[in-house]
Amino acid sequence: MVCLGNICRSPLAEGILKHKVRQNGFDWTVDSAGTGFWHSGELPDRRSIAVARKYGIDITDQRARQFRPDDFDRFDRILVMDTQNRRDVLRHARNDEHRAKVQLILDYLYPGQEENVPDPYYDDDGFEEVFRMLDAACDKLLEMP
Ligand code: 4NP
Repeated sequence: MVCLGNICRSPLAEGILKHKVRQNGFDWTVDSAGTGFWHSGELPDRRSIAVARKYGIDITDQRARQFRPDDFDRFDRILVMDTQNRRDVLRHARNDEHRAKVQLILDYLYPGQEENVPDPYYDDDGFEEVFRMLDAACDKLLEMP
């Protein structure tokens, strides 16, 4: 799960998917990263922690890290929150196999629509909507990985 800062959207996506993976008894490795380095080592944003907690998910074990080129080798799928994240991640892709792993997470809900998960950083009220979008997208992902 990849966003810009790895403190708002992708930590929620990681927490939600890990929760569902555990509930379904799957053996998947789920992680998140940011294309930027500014928040490396930080906890998720307190507003992401709060909305996750409201839905019974603890994300306080997460620490932000920057996306690394070797993530292409470590993961089968790189799910990005928006088209800017996609551009930034694709810059590190070294072959077609890597490029094929990159997908907008909202493609699971709105295939081909190029829908972005809005960046809630400057909008306290946006976190609830982001949670719901990611929750619905992760449900689809589990149905049709
Ligand atoms: P995220 O949100 O990409 O969902 O983690 C942001 C976090 C921090 C900043 C921008 C977006 N920032 O500009 O510091």
